[in-house]
Amino acid sequence: MHRKVKIIAVIGTRPEAIKMAPVILALKNESWPEIRVLATAQHRDMLDQVLNFFGIVPDIDLNIMHHNQALTTLTARLLPELDEVLKVEKPDAVLAQGDTTTVMTVALTCFYHQIPFGHVEAGLRTRDLQNPFPEEANRVIAGRLARWHFAPTETSRQNLLREGVAESAINVTGNTVIDALLMTASKPVEIGIALDRTKRLLLVTSHRRENFGEPLRNICRALRTLAERNSDIQILYPVHPNPNVKNVAHRMLGDCADILLTEPLDYAPFVAAMKHAYLIISDSGGVQEEAPALGKPVLVLRDETERPEAVEMGVVELVGPHYERIVTAAQRLLDDVNAYGAMARGVSPYGDGKSAQRIVSVLREHFARCS
Ligand code: UD1
Ligand code: UDP
Repeated sequence: MHRKVKIIAVIGTRPEAIKMAPVILALKNESWPEIRVLATAQHRDMLDQVLNFFGIVPDIDLNIMHHNQALTTLTARLLPELDEVLKVEKPDAVLAQGDTTTVMTVALTCFYHQIPFGHVEAGLRTRDLQNPFPEEANRVIAGRLARWHFAPTETSRQNLLREGVAESAINVTGNTVIDALLMTASKPVEIGIALDRTKRLLLVTSHRRENFGEPLRNICRALRTLAERNSDIQILYPVHPNPNVKNVAHRMLGDCADILLTEPLDYAPFVAAMKHAYLIISDSGGVQEEAPALGKPVLVLRDETERPEAVEMGVVELVGPHYERIVTAAQRLLDDVNAYGAMARGVSPYGDGKSAQRIVSVLREHFARCS
């Protein structure tokens, strides 16, 4: 009897768990692979929130997170731990998603062990190594070392081809975030927070390292101005636990009656909040992909994006972490029904909910040829 193909799926942070969950669940439905889930736990509570929701229990948990961890020490602590796992487990393939420190270190460790690495959400690029920091460098490194590139869109495929990646190593699969969203959005879930239902909801998230300091303070000032100028809005801001975000947000906005600062929401309530929102203001990658599919305009708190598709379709607008631009763009969408309607169209350039199946098919066919 043939031995099963052993695949390790690695997850470190909240968005990796959301976007890998559909792949893990799809692989678990197949008879040919043995799927092992490795949590680096670069995030702890936010990772556990998502794993619980999707009913995924890690087989290996490195529990790596430290409070206010620095990039260098996080990287240095991950490498020997991952090295040991690969030595013991000897998988036939390893998968990881996105552009975090977890992904970059996994790709590197696989390279050292000569184990084929599959990159989920491959080929996103701004072509500016400093923005987003350090994610652009992480995904360039992961992409350079990957055996399989699961590109969400044609644009990401073109980025990889331009870097010399072989056409045969790239598959356009869509983004698994839409699989996760469709699995979740259809369920009747409450936001779980007492909102004033007579007011329009602005949903905010922010966590990018390049926005730490003055840019984040500008964002907070803009939110306060919007709340003060518009008595018919309420702002819900689930604050990322990174202390560089949390401390500033609470210090600058904690006393504002129409701004609700909360802990990060569980995934299903957060999706419910996106569905209920009038407008979303965020620097999140995943939110930029999900909101258009829900017909919600997004003002992105960044000057560039590796996700140009929704910007080109006119449903996402880049406003940067700039006070004037945030206030002006949000106020226009609050006041101008036509401008709002043009952005609230419900388009899904990032996927159709079948991305995980496409990824599994590529792997199934590859290992069938090898056997
Ligand atoms: C990380 C990723 C970023 C991704 C983001 C998603 C890196 C370098 N950064 O940023 O690409 O977009 O996750 O959210 O890989 N913390 C907690 N509990 C948690 C998670 C974080 O308390 O569950 C706090 C800890 O103090 C931790 C800090 O946040 O040290 C920073 O976490 P880290 O993963 O290093 O960076 P993020 O800013 O979360
Ligand atoms: N999200 C969540 N709870 C929140 C905020 C965001 O579940 O309070 C989800 C969101 O729906 C998206 C993902 O987290 O799928 C985005 O994660 P994050 O913004 O932390 O990282 P990024 O996508 O920027 O890497």
